[in-house]
Amino acid sequence: PASPQARDELVLGVVGGSGLYAMDKLEDVERVSLETPFGEPSGAYTVGKLPRQSGPPLRAVFLPRHGVGHILLPGEIDYRANIHGFKQLGVTHLLSASAVGSLQAEIAPGHVVVPDQLIDRTKNRTSSFFGSGCVAHIQFGDPFDAGFRELVTKAAAEVVGRGEQRLHRKGTMVVMEGPAFSTRAESELYRSWGGDVIGMTALPEAKLAREAEIAYAVLATSTDYDCWHQSEEEVSVDAVIAIMQANVARVRSIVLELAERLPTTCEHLPWPRALVGALITDPAKIP
Ligand code: ADE
Repeated sequence: PASPQARDELVLGVVGGSGLYAMDKLEDVERVSLETPFGEPSGAYTVGKLPRQSGPPLRAVFLPRHGVGHILLPGEIDYRANIHGFKQLGVTHLLSASAVGSLQAEIAPGHVVVPDQLIDRTKNRTSSFFGSGCVAHIQFGDPFDAGFRELVTKAAAEVVGRGEQRLHRKGTMVVMEGPAFSTRAESELYRSWGGDVIGMTALPEAKLAREAEIAYAVLATSTDYDCWHQSEEEVSVDAVIAIMQANVARVRSIVLELAERLPTTCEHLPWPRALVGALITDPAKIP
């Protein structure tokens, strides 16, 4: 699925999570509906150019992962189709915006986290493009792209405020199946494992992006303390929605700030060559 691109242009993809259903400031916008060998993406992609003060416009592609109107559960999303579509559209760097619960006291609702590790607690999701006669094992020790993460973190610091406690520059993200939230015992278990935040969508997205040789990073915004926290029972839906709206506004600003900082070509920010040395099946024997 991941034919390496000879083209050197850097194309930013953004996959929107809860509350983020469109991207600001895109120009020359085109709506693109795609078919993929794996099924239908969550909806039409929005393709356009982001104007930048720092230089020429950046090509960008947006997709709301839950579909327009938030109609897909985390477990219903066709992650392979979504990533395949981004790849078809030439995306080299994919930013995943994600609303998460906090597993640590210092990560309060409204805080921004750029995770550096993942723990997989999903079930029943197809998490590879490989199989059916083609075997490959990608490296996944560091599930996010280091260079891309660094730029995302710098952009977040610019928006949130440098040295601010509201930005967490690393963290371990637990990804659960959902849609029901965790039990208190599970929440405590994840805390004992070193989990910092918990969400429902970064996997298999991160694995598939790596297999497709797309650089991937998550911009997580905390909407709640998960159920381990004593305050959690008192949180009202209104309060959570207010936090989510403020989070989405911050994410939009961070994306624009990130776009200013990205190079126009991949020369200084390469996408991961994950398939080099990953394939076991003789390419001549792949059906
Ligand atoms: N997304 C937002 N809050 C969450 C939580 N507490 N658990 C899992 N996913 C979430």
